[in-house]
Amino acid sequence: MLALQPRPLAADPIRVEAAAPTPLAGAAVPAAVDLDIRGMVKSFGEAKPVLNGVDLAVLRGQSVALIGANGAGKSTLLRCCLRLIEAEGGSVRLLERDVRRLAPRDLRRLRARVGFVFQRHNLVPRLSALSNVVHGAQARHAGARYWLHGLAPKAVREEAMHCLDLVGLPHIARQRVDSLSGGQSQRVAIARALMQRPQFVMADEPVASLDPNAGEEVMGLFSDLMRREGLTLLFSSHDLRHAVDYADRIVGLRAGRVELDGPARAQDFAGLREIYG
Ligand SMILES: Nc1ncnc2c1ncn2[C@@H]1O[C@H](COP(=O)(O)OP(=O)(O)OP(=O)(O)O)[C@@H](O)[C@H]1O
Ligand SMILES: [Mg+2]
Repeated sequence: MLALQPRPLAADPIRVEAAAPTPLAGAAVPAAVDLDIRGMVKSFGEAKPVLNGVDLAVLRGQSVALIGANGAGKSTLLRCCLRLIEAEGGSVRLLERDVRRLAPRDLRRLRARVGFVFQRHNLVPRLSALSNVVHGAQARHAGARYWLHGLAPKAVREEAMHCLDLVGLPHIARQRVDSLSGGQSQRVAIARALMQRPQFVMADEPVASLDPNAGEEVMGLFSDLMRREGLTLLFSSHDLRHAVDYADRIVGLRAGRVELDGPARAQDFAGLREIYG
């Protein structure tokens, strides 16, 4: 079994073929690259750059866990990919679009194709679970009809119900989100992301605010759904067990660079922990 090796700090071209997801292994046609980050640089103010030449490529259908110590730049990296914050150097190709050169309208279109799940679910607390899932359709349609489930077209309501069904929560559709447990809320957030019909999902510590059992359950469900729908997934986590169990590949950030990159099945926890050293 391969062990994950820390990558040297010096620039080192990424070898995506070594980390191809299992279903694609041995395929004659190379898998498409859904995300290709080259030389990303991002700093805040005068401080040392948080990201200082990050190279990372993610293949279509692959599930990649991003690990690294607090402050390593995981959230910054995810946000820069969608220009929720602006990187100051490097290039990002996401779903075949050159992100850093996109005009605002094209950027909005690209963001609509990418689901984003946050640690804190960012649902609207006083609205029902179903209305919150309907909001995912705003990625495709504009207007007040996509704010409340009662106003939404029947087909959209039915699709939102289907998404709630996928996360195992059809019975709480009419319940206000502020009355749900943390695990249920996070499932609703996942249903909302699915409602976007995304091609790529980014998740920033999607289960970090959940207790261990709920975290395990939601992460398992999330990862199964991504695989079943054939979506590409990039998620950050401090849970090494989740990284090993639910990703095809683990990427570690340290000192502003990708310092570790390898197949998750290696399960070398000692090697993984070095990223926090
Ligand atoms: N808006 C901001 N203004 C100034 N500094 C910021 C800002 N956002 C992030 N930083 C700094 O950038 C660094 C990386 O932060 P980031 O949140 O990306 O780390 P992280 O790897 O996600 O950490 P964690 O595991 O704690 O979530 C930290 O030092 C943080 O203080
Ligand atoms: Mg973070």
